[in-house]
Amino acid sequence: MTAQAQRASVNDAREIQRLIAYWAEETGDVLPRTEGEIYETIRDFVVVPAESGNGLLAAGALHVEWRDLAEIKSLVVDPKAQGKGLGRIVVDACLDEAVDLGLKTVFALTTTPAFFERLGFRVAGVSAFPRKVWNECFRCPKYANCDEIAVTIDLRERIAERRA
Ligand SMILES: CC(C)(COP(=O)(O)OP(=O)(O)OC[C@H]1O[C@@H](n2cnc3c(N)ncnc32)[C@H](O)[C@@H]1OP(=O)(O)O)[C@@H](O)C(=O)NCCC(=O)NCCS
Repeated sequence: MTAQAQRASVNDAREIQRLIAYWAEETGDVLPRTEGEIYETIRDFVVVPAESGNGLLAAGALHVEWRDLAEIKSLVVDPKAQGKGLGRIVVDACLDEAVDLGLKTVFALTTTPAFFERLGFRVAGVSAFPRKVWNECFRCPKYANCDEIAVTIDLRERIAERRA
C-alpha cells in the first residue's frame, strides 16, 4: 500500500505532539507544541497513518497567515520512517490544500532548507515575510539566536497544472 496523507482528526493530536516533541528535543528542528496548541490548530494538520493502523508516520501543518501567504509548520517524520518520501507526501498535501484555498505562495522556516529545495522551494530572506516576524518571531524564545532559514515556493505552476 502506498503511504497517503489525510486530514488529521482530534484523535491524532497526541501522536502529532509525540512526533513534534521528539524532534524538538532531539535536534530542535521544530518548536515544541503543547497538546492544547495542537487541538487549536488541528484543522491545519495532515498526517500519514502507519499501515498497521497504530500511530502516525508523519505529520505537518499548513497555517494561513494572510490573503496571499501560508506557512508549513511542525513538519515531522517518525525517525524510523525517514528517507521514504513521507516528508514529500506531507508537503505535497499542504501545497495542494494551499492551491484549494486560493493561495499563491507558501513558505517555511527551517533548519533543513536542502530538503525543501528538493521539493521546489527556494531560499528567501525572512524579511520577505514581515507579517510572520511581527506576529510570531518576536515572541519566539529563539528569536535572538534564530538558526532557521526561510524557504518559499510560488504556487503558480501548480495552479496552472491543475487547470490544464
Ligand atoms: C526533514 C524531514 C521532514 C524530511 O522527511 P523525509 O520523509 O525523511 O524526506 P523525503 O524522503 O520525503 O525526502 C524528499 C527529498 O528530500 C531529500 N531530503 C530529505 N531530507 C533531506 C535533508 N535533511 N537534506 C537534504 N535533502 C533531504 C531526499 O533525499 C529526497 O530527495 P529525492 O526526492 O531527490 O530523492 C524529516 O527528516 C524530519 O522530520 N526531520 C526532523 C524534523 C524537521 O527537520 N522538520 C522540518 C522542519 S520545517
